[in-house]
Formats: sequence, C-alpha cells, structure tokens
Amino acid sequence: MKILVTGGAGYIGSHTTLALLEAGLDVVVLDNLCNSSPVSLSRVEELAARALTFVEGDINDRALLDRVFADHSIDAVMHFAGLKAVGESVAEPLLYYRNNVAGTLTLCEAMAVANVFKLVFSSSATVYGEPGEMPLHEQLPTGSATNPYGQSKVMVERCLSDLGAADPRWSIALLRYFNPIGAHSSGLIGENPNGLPNNLLPYISQVAAGKLAELAVYGNDYQTVDGTGVRDYIHVVDLADGHLKALHAIEAATGVAVWNLGTGVGYSVLQIIEAFEKASGCKIPYRLAARRPGDTAECWADSGKANRELGWQATRGLADMMTDTWRWTRQNPTGYP
Ligand code: NAD
Ligand code: UFG
Repeated sequence: MKILVTGGAGYIGSHTTLALLEAGLDVVVLDNLCNSSPVSLSRVEELAARALTFVEGDINDRALLDRVFADHSIDAVMHFAGLKAVGESVAEPLLYYRNNVAGTLTLCEAMAVANVFKLVFSSSATVYGEPGEMPLHEQLPTGSATNPYGQSKVMVERCLSDLGAADPRWSIALLRYFNPIGAHSSGLIGENPNGLPNNLLPYISQVAAGKLAELAVYGNDYQTVDGTGVRDYIHVVDLADGHLKALHAIEAATGVAVWNLGTGVGYSVLQIIEAFEKASGCKIPYRLAARRPGDTAECWADSGKANRELGWQATRGLADMMTDTWRWTRQNPTGYP
C-alpha cells in the first residue's frame, strides 16, 4: 500500500511517516518546506531503515499533484500540509484560507481524477470553540472557532463532510487532535518551530535550553485547578499511531468519520512546568501575564469513540512527553541543521 503524505516533513507528518514505514507501507511525501526541513525526512529514513520518496512542492499546484498521482500508484492520502499559527492567521486570513481550505480542495480534486478516495485529514480540537462542557465529544456542535486558522479547519471539515455525503466512493477520516507534544524517543525527530514559538512546550524547551529568558504564563484567573489554562497534551507518537488505526478503519469503509485524538486528561500550565522541571532537572523561570486573546480556560477530549471504533488509546504519559521533548531539545538545540 502506498500513501501520499502531504506535509510529511513537518512535526506530526514526520512522526506519522515513520510509523507508516515501520508498518511496511510505502510513502510519498509532498511538502513545500515552508515550515520544515528535509533533514527530518532523512532522519525518518534512518530510523525506519527504509527509503521514502520526497517531492518538494505545494498542494496548491494542481499540475504537480496530477504528476504525483500519475507517477505513483497512491492508495490513500494523509493530509497534514497546512499553516497553523493562530496569531498569523488573524493577521493574514487569506493566506490561511488559500493554503488550508483552497489547498485541500485542490488536493481532493486531483485525488478524484486519480481515483484515490481515501483521505485522513488533520483537524483540530479548535473546531469545538468553547462549548461550555467537558470533555469534548464528537457530537458537540462545531463552528465557533475564534480565529481564521480554526475556521479553516471548520470549513475543511464541512467541505469533506459534504463530499463524503455526495459521493459514496469517498472514505474520509477527520482526526481532531488535542495538543500534540513530545518527540520520537530517539531524539532524532521532533518539533522544530520557526522563530519565537507560539506553543507552550516549544517555548518551555527554549527557556530550558537557555535560548529564552523566561516563560510568560498567559492568565492565572481561569476557573481551573490553579487558575492557569488546562489542555489535553498528547504524545506525538501516540497521535501517529492513531493515524495508522484510522487509515486501517477507512480502508474498508465509506463516508466520513470523525475521531478525537486526545488522552482524556487535562493538565494546567503550572502542572506542565513542574513536570518539565522534573524530567529535565532544569528550573523554568516564569512570570504571570495577562490572558492570551482567544484562549479558552480548558479543553480535554473524550476519546472513547476512537477507543471503541479504532481500538486506539494514548499509552504515553506526561513524564514520557516531557522526557522525550527534552531529549529532542538537548540533542538538537537549534533544531534541524
Ligand atoms: P508543521 O508546520 O510542522 O507541518 C506542516 C507541514 O506542511 C510543514 O512541513 C509545511 O512545510 C507543510 N506545508 C504547509 N503548507 C503547505 C503547502 N501549501 N503545500 C505543501 N506543504 C505545505 O505542523 P504540524 O504541527 O505537524 O501540523 C500538521 C497538521 O496538523 C496541520 O494541518 C495542523 O493544522 C494540524 N494540527 C496541528 C496541531 C498542533 O498543535 N501541532 C493541532 C491540531 C491540528
Ligand atoms: N501558554 C502560556 N505561555 C506560552 C504559550 C502557551 O501560558 O508561552 C498557555 C496557553 O495560554 C494555553 C496553554 O499554554 O493555556 C497551551 O497553549 P498552546 O499555545 O501550546 O496550545 P493551544 O491549546 O492554545 O492551541 C493548540 C494549537 C492549536 C490547536 C489547539 C487544539 O496551537 O493549533 O492546540 O486544541 F488548534
């Protein structure tokens, strides 16, 4: 079986590509490298002791997509390619809608012409907005995302749901990730943010590595265990495993299925700082700051549906997530060379 992985050089895509290769599948990665390095792919090949095919290019390039499908006998697509910086999406909404929404439509059009109808899509818990109940389950309404990045995920989910309803040849998995963190246990692949990190763990890692002076904790007046924001952090290798299970499930199915991929457990920012300090032995200096606009107080998953229907469950705990993040940072203090 051959899988086209868009965005496969990125953080989640590289870990999933490794899992696919390890499971004996063949992989073609299509990535424009706008937020990644090709070194991630050499390291994936090294870890898997297998080769993959890399095509440098954009999902908005229809002619290129047609060539990729003509040159390779693709059975299914895992679609990670997209932009993901919430703040940037507020400043440049058209860039986000072009890349994330229009890019996905172009990909689906090329897939249909090539007779490829199996698709696993990277969605996000952000589609739930702030529904006022926890944990978040797949039946909750979506659509209240507060920024263009989140809206792009809502829109793509809608497009893909309509597509699945219109044409029974499609079999589509919408995977709603919670907060992916951690790295492969080898320390060879991990998250490699460009510039100042937006997300908590990359920021903490850079403070620990001495590249940033201190962490700003955004808000300590939420109705949570200690006033700081609570999230469902999931190990990226567990997430990659969820993709394999979803791929397996859609092989024999038709239509559109939605699965949350989270652990079901929420941790506060202060709990994360404490766990990271324990795993790394580094003190993380922090200051309490104002709430970050658009943040919600808490967010964690009901992943029972993925457990029942895919036989999937996250197995790595918070200590593993912290240890693996720190190993990756220590071994690659400036990211990929
Ligand atoms: P990432 O930036 O590390 O990976 C995305 C990859 O896509 C990068 O390698 C980038 O170069 C590539 N890319 C972007 N636009 C492209 C285009 N037009 N054509 C070809 N390649 C393109 O991000 P990630 O954290 O690995 O996220 C992967 C997917 O998961 C994204 O769709 C993201 O929105 C989604 N997601 C991520 C998170 C998270 O917290 N990391 C949470 C929920 C959902
Ligand atoms: N936080 C800080 N300081 C920082 C960064 C983050 O205190 O420097 C706090 C945030 O306020 C929040 C928590 O740490 O309470 C997690 O923040 P992240 O930025 O790491 O993650 P978010 O939950 O805001 O968003 C992430 C992805 C989104 C995705 C969402 C899915 O960035 O793309 O998870 O739940 F949609």
